Amino acid sequence: MTNEEFSQLAAKPRHIGIIMDGNGRWAKKRALPRSVGHKFGARTFRAIAEYCIKLDIEVVTFFAFSTENWKRPKEEVDGIMQLFIEYLQDSFNRKGMQNMRVRFLGDRAPLSDEAKALMKNVEQETAEYKNQLNIAINYGSHDELVTAFNKLNGKKAEISAQDISEALYTHGQPDVDLLVRTGGEQRISNFLLWQSAYAELYFTDTLWPDFKEKDLDQALTFFAHRQRRFGAAE
Ligand code: FPP
Repeated sequence: MTNEEFSQLAAKPRHIGIIMDGNGRWAKKRALPRSVGHKFGARTFRAIAEYCIKLDIEVVTFFAFSTENWKRPKEEVDGIMQLFIEYLQDSFNRKGMQNMRVRFLGDRAPLSDEAKALMKNVEQETAEYKNQLNIAINYGSHDELVTAFNKLNGKKAEISAQDISEALYTHGQPDVDLLVRTGGEQRISNFLLWQSAYAELYFTDTLWPDFKEKDLDQALTFFAHRQRRFGAAE
């Protein structure tokens, strides 16, 4: 949709979370290795991130790699990490990717030194931008909450919801308004559990590499028609 059409929607999400699922099945349908599915998935990630920038979405979070994804074959894990590194290396050469403040959600300790150095660089280089692009990498909500609780442990007699929000990787950002999952599964898979407490959930059968701007438009239109009550009566 055009920016004009977006501005006319009855409600707009401030924060969109995206679970990019279906790369493996997309490849299987074409008798290709799973790594090719991830490669095309990475292309979709760039295109949708750029589209979110164009629409001036305040925060978008992509689930790139979970704390559980290490259980996949080493070759597949290495392939995803390589795509991540390639993205970090050339994100600044692409016009659309330049206006978003990049933040990484997750425990980066087990990532390679190369990835860690590039991540630091990207965070520094984009620190001045207003809109935020979060990439969840080695991320899991349980892990995030445990880390947050340990950070807060012993610091205060009573911990508030605000304290917890501020101890999460997403500190300072609005909660998720719209959670999109591609690939047909209807679950949240340990993604932004605290932040999605009041999110509208949008599931689509479209496999992630096939997800296009018009598919995000459908999710945005769905969101615009929802009545959010945050627990209050109508
Ligand atoms: C889920 O599909 C996808 C992943 C676990 C990896 C997502 C990674 C990318 C899109 C590319 C790298 C990311 C960046 C930020 C450049 P699946 O493999 O579980 O698919 P399946 O359910 O069909 O097997």
